[in-house]
Amino acid sequence: MRTIVIGCDNAAVRLKKIMMDFMLEKGYTVENVGCDSDEDSTFYPYIAQKACERIIESNYEKRGVLICGTGLGMAMAANKFKGIRAGVCHDIFSAERLQLSNDGNILCFGERVIGAELAKRILECWLKLDFVDGPSTPKVDAIKELEAANLK
Ligand code: RB5
Repeated sequence: MRTIVIGCDNAAVRLKKIMMDFMLEKGYTVENVGCDSDEDSTFYPYIAQKACERIIESNYEKRGVLICGTGLGMAMAANKFKGIRAGVCHDIFSAERLQLSNDGNILCFGERVIGAELAKRILECWLKLDFVDGPSTPKVDAIKELEAANLK
């Protein structure tokens, strides 16, 4: 079963713990890159960096879950890394499309936005899906072309 890298800033320690336990119960291997305390004020981009590096080192075999207050900052930071396609999903339809339309390899949540039960269902939906080649492939390829041209 796939390994999931998970990280959060100190705005999302509680939701991250719930998501970690949920994935462990489902049998996933989970790699936690922090932070684990309200007192840890590491800026969210540095947590996103740690998670992205683990995913890149795995040759994109691993996927990631990043949580901050809104999910927005984590997604912005993660999308600065080569081969990372991160999206914020607070509904199940978006989570499905993040995988099937965008081949997204990082799912972001905002602890200040979403409740834990909905977040679990969104996460479960996204984890179960895999991108398959089809009409979305040339669109994802176009993202990769933009990345190659603009991300040095
Ligand atoms: C708190 O630092 C908050 O700004 C952060 O968790 C996140 O929501 C940023 O996008």
